[in-house]
Amino acid sequence: MLFKLAACWLSLGTLALTGAIPREAQTLAPSRVFAERQAASSTTQVADGACTNGPRTRNCWSNGFSIATDFDAKAPPAGKTVTYNLEITNTTLNPDGGGDRPVMLINGVFPGPVIRASWGDTLVVHVKNSLEHNGTGIHWHGLRQLNSCQHDGVPGVTECPIAPGKSRQYVFKCTQFGTSWYHSHWSAQYSEGTLGTLIIDGPATANYDEDLGTLPLTEWYYTPGFTLAEQAQHSQAGPPRPDNILVNGTHVNAKGSGKYFKMKVKKGKKYRVRIINTSVDTTFSVSMDKHPFTVITSDFVPIKSFVADQLTIAIGQRYDVVINANQAVDNYWFRVSIGTACGSNAMTDTDIPLGAILQYEGASDSNPTSTGVQMRTTCTDETGLVPFVPNSVPTSLVPQAEMKLNHSIDVNDNFLFRWTIDGTPMIADWNTPSLQTAISGSNDFGEFSNVYEMNSNNWYFWWIQTTTFIPLPHPIHLHGHDFYILGSGSGTWDGSTTGLNFQNPTRRDVATLPAGGYLLLAFPADNPGLWVMHCHIAWHAGQGLSVQFLERKSDIKGSIGSLSEFNKGCDEWKDYWVPGNHPYNQTDSGL
Ligand code: C2O
Repeated sequence: MLFKLAACWLSLGTLALTGAIPREAQTLAPSRVFAERQAASSTTQVADGACTNGPRTRNCWSNGFSIATDFDAKAPPAGKTVTYNLEITNTTLNPDGGGDRPVMLINGVFPGPVIRASWGDTLVVHVKNSLEHNGTGIHWHGLRQLNSCQHDGVPGVTECPIAPGKSRQYVFKCTQFGTSWYHSHWSAQYSEGTLGTLIIDGPATANYDEDLGTLPLTEWYYTPGFTLAEQAQHSQAGPPRPDNILVNGTHVNAKGSGKYFKMKVKKGKKYRVRIINTSVDTTFSVSMDKHPFTVITSDFVPIKSFVADQLTIAIGQRYDVVINANQAVDNYWFRVSIGTACGSNAMTDTDIPLGAILQYEGASDSNPTSTGVQMRTTCTDETGLVPFVPNSVPTSLVPQAEMKLNHSIDVNDNFLFRWTIDGTPMIADWNTPSLQTAISGSNDFGEFSNVYEMNSNNWYFWWIQTTTFIPLPHPIHLHGHDFYILGSGSGTWDGSTTGLNFQNPTRRDVATLPAGGYLLLAFPADNPGLWVMHCHIAWHAGQGLSVQFLERKSDIKGSIGSLSEFNKGCDEWKDYWVPGNHPYNQTDSGL
């Protein structure tokens, strides 16, 4: 039904003063650039040494690998195999005392279990779908999946969904280190709680004594996620308003009951905290009263450490910070504020502090009385993030395509809202994942595939340009790579490379496309496969705001290994999802 409707969506392109781009423009000519990655030399790096990692030598790792290793260029140390079993079930959750809500949790907990491995390890994760009526697929956010595209966990792109009652094994190497999360990539399922956090131990750009682990932040709704996703795509008044936030799965509610999460520290020690925005539709800012952050990573990329008293975190982004417990023994607020410039939350109507508590050993159990900085409510990315390992982008690059972000609305059927790239929303075909089409040698990805090709082993430059009048920022996330952020701004990019950053620009896996603006990204085609790049606002991804890069098609089959798990998954899914006779309809992009 969705597929038919798509053909008659009313395009607002002309209203927004954009010319339609012919569909052929999406099949792009081979790269016109032939430059290699330039590993800029730097005197600030320590050579890969033989020193051992410890609280005072966090820059070291082992056997010639250190914080100075370029993990994109050099194979990580050969590690061990680390195995996890995850099972997704229908259950209920009352995380803030505001009442039970149906959810789909991993191993019955929210957030799901912390997956932890070390740099160079191979993760083997068995995922069992014990949901009654949903497919699923788990994506390992930010993991590069070098030569393992089929384990990226995107239904309709890199796999068929895992059918109810069936299991799938994901196998991938931890070529990076740091902090991330994993989540369902099956429609809006992660808004039902289907997510957890992930740590890959490795070296760091600042020293600390102890690791406090992951600190996932999300908004919380008392209404089930799929209900909200449907509301969002039929709403003429914007997305539904969240009821609360959760910090590591807990918070006080609007009536004052419920519990704050506590981070417990001892005076005199330094702690690493791994802050992750796992939300569906919220940008957050965070700070810790009297404890400035020494920031050491942006996403998986180690950066030259710097001190900040506040950080703004878009959906999918991570910051690892070190705090020094050098204040008086007491309780201190970890403050979380809502980016009201691009969203809302019912808790801002109350006087209830949003956040968590830093509790020193020996302090009382009461709430903090500490004061802190004025919190931001903006939705713009942090700037000045300098990767520790300096890589540069060839300055000769020119954009491969201007990806015009617009939206469309179908007024015939109860108002259906779609985000489009070059006029088309991406709609995944669960039965025919793009990877299968590519491997079969076909280029018939379908009308709503939004495929952009990268045929040669070179750098590519992508220009995302907002053309809609809807003034919203979008956290753009790329699979299979860290992208290099050449520039961003408001309005329309003028095409001038003056002022763009080619010398060791910030690289990460989520960057915010400014409201009404543009985002200029580059990355080398060094990982054959199909990789989606999408807005990480779950509602927007569900409304089609995605493209997929078909990267070096002819090299995919030879690089990704056995397809037995992939094929088994598709056979099982097709048994479940019989065309014309399946248990429900795909009413969104499937992503
Ligand atoms: Cu966090 Cu496409 O994902």
